[in-house]
Formats: sequence, C-alpha cells, structure tokens
Amino acid sequence: MSEERRRLGVAMIGYAFMGRAHSQAWRVAPRFFDLPMTPEMTVLVGRDGARAAAAAARLGWADAETDWRRVLERDDVGLVDICSPGSTHAEIAVAALEAGKHVLVEKPMANTLAEAEAMAAAARAAAPSGVRAMVGFSYRRVPAVALARQLVADGRLGTIRQVRAQYLQDWLADPDAPLSWRLDKEQAGSGALGDIGAHIVDLAQFITGQRVVGVSAMLDTFVHERPVAESSDGLHGTAGTERGPVTVDDAASFLARLSGGAPAVFEATRFAWGRKNAMRIEVTGSLGAVAFDFEDMNVLQYFDAVDEDLTAGFRRIVVTEPVHPYVGAWWPAGHGLGYEHAFTHQVVDLVGALAAGEQPTPSFEDGLAVQRVLDAVERSAAASSVFTQVRADDDAGTPAGSTAARAAAGSVSGSATAGGTAVGSGDAAEPDLTQ
Ligand SMILES: NC(=O)c1ccc[n+]([C@@H]2O[C@H](COP(=O)([O-])OP(=O)(O)OC[C@H]3O[C@@H](n4cnc5c(N)ncnc54)[C@H](O)[C@@H]3O)[C@@H](O)[C@H]2O)c1
Repeated sequence: MSEERRRLGVAMIGYAFMGRAHSQAWRVAPRFFDLPMTPEMTVLVGRDGARAAAAAARLGWADAETDWRRVLERDDVGLVDICSPGSTHAEIAVAALEAGKHVLVEKPMANTLAEAEAMAAAARAAAPSGVRAMVGFSYRRVPAVALARQLVADGRLGTIRQVRAQYLQDWLADPDAPLSWRLDKEQAGSGALGDIGAHIVDLAQFITGQRVVGVSAMLDTFVHERPVAESSDGLHGTAGTERGPVTVDDAASFLARLSGGAPAVFEATRFAWGRKNAMRIEVTGSLGAVAFDFEDMNVLQYFDAVDEDLTAGFRRIVVTEPVHPYVGAWWPAGHGLGYEHAFTHQVVDLVGALAAGEQPTPSFEDGLAVQRVLDAVERSAAASSVFTQVRADDDAGTPAGSTAARAAAGSVSGSATAGGTAVGSGDAAEPDLTQ
C-alpha cells in the first residue's frame, strides 16, 4: 500500500496543445512542490506510433502506446489524463473509471449532456473504491483567480449582486483561418460556447460559490465555410485548397441568473479582433468588487467600498507574494507566473487530494453542472433566446446512469449506479467553498 501511495503512474492521451501543457505540469510539479505522491510519466498515447514515440521522448514520457484501451490494462498506470478532443472524453473516461483508474479529463467535460451524465455516474460508481475523477478547468488555479474566490468566500465582497464574464479571442476573425476539429460539432460538441464559454461559466461558479440556474442566450456563426487545414499547431493551422463547413457557433452571448439571485452576463467569442486570450471576470458585491483579466494574469483588481471617497479606487494587487495561493513555491515577489503554472497547480491539487483520499475539484459533478449550463444555452438559443432553466438532477432528459446515457458514452456494460452517493450539484446547491 505504501508503495502504491508513493508513486502514481500516469497515462496521457493526446500530445498536442494540452498534451504539452500537461506534460510540463507532470514534470515540474514534483520539483517545485512537496507532493505526497510521486507522479511518474509512464506512457503517452497517440494514434500514430512513430509520432507518439517521438512525442513521448520529447515531452519526457517513458513509453508510448497507440491504443488507449491498452493502457487501462497496465498495472503501472494509476491515472489516465485525457488531453484529446471532446468527442473522445466520455468513452475513455468511463472505461478508465471502470478499470479502476483515476481520471483527469480536459474541459469541456463532454460534447453532450448525456455523455457528461454518464461520466458523472461512472465517477459516482467508482468513488467508493477510492477512484477519483476531475475536470481540467485549469484557470481556477491561476493565483489571482484563486485569490478572488478567497476574497468572496471570506465575505469581503458582501452579497454578490452582479457578475460579468467574457472570454475573448481573435484566432477565427480571419475568414480564411482554416478548419480544425474545434469547428466540427461532431468532434468539439460546440464552438466558442464549449471551448471557452465553459471556462467562464466554471469561473463564475467557482468564484461566487453559486450555480447558474437559468439563461437567455444567443449563438451566432459568422463564417459558415473555411479552407480545410492541411496541418495544425495549437489553435492555428495551414490552409489547404479544399473547403468545408463550420458546424459550430462562433460566438455565444447569454444573460444568466445565479442561484443566489444575482444576474450575470456572459460572452464567449473567437472573433474579437485584438483580444488574444482575454478571459475576464468582474464580480460586484454589496461591499466591493474584484476584476480579473487573463491578459494581465498576475494582477487582481479589488475595490473595497469601505474605503473613503478621497482615495477609493480599484487596488491593483500584484498576486506574487508568498501569502497568495500557490505562489510560495515559485519565485520572489514580482517575478510573475505564466499560463503553464495553472496546469502545474492542477497537478499539485489533484495529487494532494488523491494522497489524502479526498475528492479533487472540479469534480465530475462540477463538470456536469457546467455542461448543464451549456445545454441550457443551446436550448435557449434554439428557442429565440427564451429564458431557460438549467436542468436539475431530477429533470434531465437522460437520467444519469441510464442505459441511454451510458450508450452515449460508448459504454453499456457494468453497473454505473452501484454505491453511488447522492448527487451534490443540483441547480440551487451551493458548491463547497472549503477546497
Ligand atoms: N484547459 C484549457 O485551458 C484548455 C486549453 C486548450 C484545450 N483544452 C481542451 O483540451 C482538449 C484537447 O485540446 P487541444 O487543444 O490539446 O487539441 P489538439 O488538437 O492540440 O490535440 C489533440 C490531441 O489528441 C489526439 N487525439 C485525437 N483523437 C484521439 C484519439 N481518438 N486517441 C488518441 N489521441 C487522439 C491528437 O492526435 C492530438 O495529439 C480539448 O478538450 C480542449 O477543449 C483545454
């Protein structure tokens, strides 16, 4: 048992954008943080043998494999880290949990609500055996974001009155930017909505400790056909001569109601010229406000309404002091952190929870809660923006753990409900703020 706790063999599926970010995190986390278990980069999975082997060597993985099913049979693998497109998430995650492997899956958790329900049911069924599942909403681990949540949880903002959240990028604003899997509904589930809108829904819920309970939404597609990509790297690719259809939204805009009653405004677009990765959230309460913009990610703006008028204003907190979340393990104050550090912190929190026998967050219930908001946005947009309730546990069209939901995840064998605990993320349920 002690040997088991000492090491954690990891299998990672996919080795491109997120595969590189996660590899860096698995490599670096045990070198900067004192982890209670030692992660081992056991095997990387890719579909092409030669490319997977080259990626494994480059990124620091001991072995490479071409079929994810084979890594589930390995005794030296304790956790499966899914960094492939959304269309693969449910099938791999459910099979991994049924094989007794912990799972970290990239966001959005799934491409459909039925898939997310099947995944949450599989996680519930696996939990009594100590098998855990987590979703990679990495922005929760940016120190300034974690500080924002801390200020809200400490009551510094008072009652939450309004939330405004935006995720703005511009990599699709050029109509000749090529098609990739992110523009194909079959592979991505949705467009800006699931890709970046999911992040701001999760952040709003994370920072406020409340759930989104209803939405009025619009989804727009501005460019309906693009050149097919001949090759791709990260978000960008090289256009070929053939053209193909865009089958997802380019922009998602929605008003929302939070479980505590506050209104919220969300906007996700990949057409906002000049905005590269402007993930912004501003939360206004009765006693103050916090504002964050990822393009200035080491800073949290904080307004304290108790300040005298003469000097009142947003305080620009440079979140690089040892007292700030995660920061003590890194550099002297003012020597900022970057995009990749959030993934390292994700590994730190995940490994810490596994070693303690606790549920890491965001759990599959948290991922399912976000998926239910995405589903409500799609239903509202399809009904001329009519205000639409986010589904609760007992009114989902496809009950969690049902054969239909499991079929949606590509797995209909085994029991998904055995030993399951009560679902903790109903619409009005407040997530636990004591992470
Ligand atoms: N947390 C974040 O901020 C963040 C950022 C970007 C992407 N993501 C998410 O990460 C996931 C992957 O996105 P990405 O940007 O890394 O995509 P990507 O296109 O850069 O890489 C996808 C990888 O998956 C592999 N792959 C595809 N199908 C596979 C299969 N059936 N079996 C094995 N490997 C397969 C591809 O070969 C590639 O290596 C998506 O869910 C995406 O939404 C999260």
